[in-house]
Amino acid sequence: MSTPILPAPDAQALNPTGIEQVSQCVRTLRSVRRFRSDDVPITLLDFVLDHAVCAGSGSNRQPWRFIVVRDRTLRGELGDWYREAWQVLENSGYTARPGGSVRASARRITASARYLAEHFEDVPVVVVPCFLPVPRNPVDLFGGASIYPAVQNLLLAARSVGLGTVLTTPHAICALDRTGRPTAHEALYLRLCELLAIPAGVVPAALIPMGWPAETFGPSRRRPAREMTYRDRWAQEWGNVQ
Ligand SMILES: Cc1cc2nc3c(=O)[nH]c(=O)nc-3n(C[C@H](O)[C@H](O)[C@H](O)COP(=O)(O)O)c2cc1C
Repeated sequence: MSTPILPAPDAQALNPTGIEQVSQCVRTLRSVRRFRSDDVPITLLDFVLDHAVCAGSGSNRQPWRFIVVRDRTLRGELGDWYREAWQVLENSGYTARPGGSVRASARRITASARYLAEHFEDVPVVVVPCFLPVPRNPVDLFGGASIYPAVQNLLLAARSVGLGTVLTTPHAICALDRTGRPTAHEALYLRLCELLAIPAGVVPAALIPMGWPAETFGPSRRRPAREMTYRDRWAQEWGNVQ
């Protein structure tokens, strides 16, 4: 990522400043879980949502709706729900690591996620992107591919205007097990749908707290792309391809 950006060779590329700004936005997008209580102007929410719906989806079905929760009472109820779901997640061992060895960075994430759970109702906005499945876009990995690009657009657009977000999915553990059957915590999942009046069959894809960050953005810590990339076939090192 430290390679200087080459001048755009194509008229349709952004200018170098634009490229640098997009790059900075992507590279410094990281989870924000501590927020100031200040309100988020509706114009900014519209900006963020307008960018979310720019995303592609299978056959351009746009199988999404976005519930924007701002109501204080509802945020309080959502906070109670979130804490319960978070507890189920923690009790399930989700945050533990095999062999009991927990890296410092994992401990930090868990502590930060716990802080969010404890203060959930203080976050001024929670966006809940909902997925409208159809037989050709079912609730599976490929169906999800028709909503998570919109979610990522939303996170990036928010970052660009200085709004913090974190993609959370605590309800995933109480919806379906690995074979697609309802889990012992189905009632908790249904309670979330009931709170937000989400009809049967429509799936909340995430809960995204959003607001002015009380912590700093990125850079995100990731393994280098070259370590994660293969040349032509699985497991062939990308190496020093020029
Ligand atoms: C599918 C998915 C589910 C996540 N679920 C949660 C969650 O339930 N709670 C939470 O605090 N963060 C959640 N996160 C945020 C991750 O912890 C975060 O993306 C990861 O640790 C990288 O950290 P960074 O965004 O600060 O770079 C989730 C992220 C993804 C992509």
